[in-house]
Amino acid sequence: MNAPAHNLFEVVPLSQHIGAEIRGLDMSKPLDSATIKAIYQTWLDHTVIIFRGQKLTQEDHLQATSYFGTQGHIRRPPKYFPPGFDRVAPGIMFISNIRENGEPIGALPDGEMMFHHDMIHSEIPDKGTLLYSIEIPSTGGNTLFASGYAAYETLDPALRAKLEGRNALHHYNYGSTQKGDGKGTEAYGRAAHPAIRTHEESGRKSLYVNRLMTVGLEGMSDEEAAPILEAVFDHCEKPEFVYSHKWRVGDLLLWDNRCSSHAREDFPANERRLMLRTTVQASVKPHF
Ligand code: SIN
Repeated sequence: MNAPAHNLFEVVPLSQHIGAEIRGLDMSKPLDSATIKAIYQTWLDHTVIIFRGQKLTQEDHLQATSYFGTQGHIRRPPKYFPPGFDRVAPGIMFISNIRENGEPIGALPDGEMMFHHDMIHSEIPDKGTLLYSIEIPSTGGNTLFASGYAAYETLDPALRAKLEGRNALHHYNYGSTQKGDGKGTEAYGRAAHPAIRTHEESGRKSLYVNRLMTVGLEGMSDEEAAPILEAVFDHCEKPEFVYSHKWRVGDLLLWDNRCSSHAREDFPANERRLMLRTTVQASVKPHF
């Protein structure tokens, strides 16, 4: 990847296909429009961007979110707050395993999660997600990001031909770490989207299926679709397409949900993990 054509900040790529650290910016300070534009372009170029060592209020976090579009809706506002918090701003969600009265204070509390695209089971899935780390376990809990572009560009032509012009079927399944373990729910419904989608801003194609929530291919029987999907999932998750983010406190990370999937490694259940999460809404349905 080429160095940026500006000297507003430094861009340090983190793997061959996905992820870059942006250095030299304090995201709690107001940014001018040239810097915001350059950050946005860096995000499009690298799919995942990270700002280390930030000290953000919730308002700073919301301000940073606004650089990327309209803030998404939060479906599960927290019922309890961890020490140090007496409120949570509208639009911010906790991702946390911390429990109060035996109940997790946040969403997606425990352990490993398979690769997925946020809200792929909805009509217009989110465009992006920002996570800001407050507490992290001493080991594990990395978030893994897989480039849908790199996976598409290297997919076996015979498999690609099976997906080209075809919708994949997705269902809500955040509750599960294993497909078919019965913990999924139909509450958020199902959706069909192109298995290969074209990014509306970059114009690039990416694979848009994932192991956690993709359950079929339109116009194919389950028996026919299952081995194709398994082979595509295995391809998408190859280490060479993945950046594994080892969290430090104060990381602000943003991923492009249109051209990447993400997963989470397991971490000790007796150690606390707390992230603040916002999303950016998309304005268009995924298209071929
Ligand atoms: C998510 O899948 O949105 C959560 C990722 C994480 O907790 O690292």
